[in-house]
Amino acid sequence: MNIILLGPPGAGKGTQSAGLVERHGMKQLSTGDMLRAAVKAQTPVGIKAKAVMDRGELVSDEIVSDLIDAELEAMGAETGAIFDGYPRTAAQADSLDEILAKHGRSLDHVIELGVDEDALVERITGRFSCANCGALYHDTANPTSKEGVCDNCGNTEFKRRPDDNEETVRKRMQEYRAKTAPILPGYEARNIVTRVDGMAAIDEVAGAIDAILG
Ligand code: AP5
Ligand code: MG
Repeated sequence: MNIILLGPPGAGKGTQSAGLVERHGMKQLSTGDMLRAAVKAQTPVGIKAKAVMDRGELVSDEIVSDLIDAELEAMGAETGAIFDGYPRTAAQADSLDEILAKHGRSLDHVIELGVDEDALVERITGRFSCANCGALYHDTANPTSKEGVCDNCGNTEFKRRPDDNEETVRKRMQEYRAKTAPILPGYEARNIVTRVDGMAAIDEVAGAIDAILG
């Protein structure tokens, strides 16, 4: 099974990917996470990407498609892939088809997380994650069960993303509207898109996604 989770910044792509990994043993392929790891490790890709990400703009198509290709190359053929934050442009959508074909895979579902954009800024500025395992939380919508302690690994250090400020979030949303939303009709024409209400509670969104996967 190979699926795309599509939606604007803060729609819940990362949150729902984590649930799918746990429930279905799929692998999350998040280009945002890969790029942040590259920035942290100060690789040539990371050094190039950092300023672009801090501005809320899109990194080059070639860089992200190469990252995805390398991840699929390293994955067992039986493991399902969740594409989180990729593809984001028409060129990336074309590359994904080619990369999937090369690895003997094909797309099963594009799940569009429908959200109210006004609520997203609140979601993103309230987001934090465990500095050790990366588990995602939100100040009010999804806090840790015990204050200051990660539910998943018990760590007590947390972090916030440098691009999670209102100005950058607005730019990321503009990029989504201008470059990513236009790839949807191509997938709709292939009858593989299902829209899920991303404003529902996290568990309800997860249930709706499971119903699609069957
Ligand atoms: P990326 O890391 O992909 O960021 P994004 O698309 O802006 O999306 P987010 O990670 O912000 O949101 P999400 O949908 O994962 O939401 P989450 O589950 O965390 O990309 C970052 C940057 O990298 C880009 O700007 C670009 O520069 C670059 N980049 C990455 N991929 C690229 C590509 N393919 N091409 C070019 N450049 C690329 O949830 C958000 C918060 O809400 C959390 O706190 C969560 O707890 C909470 N929450 C989640 N679901 C719910 C719910 N149902 N109800 C209430 N709260 C919820
Ligand atoms: Mg994410």
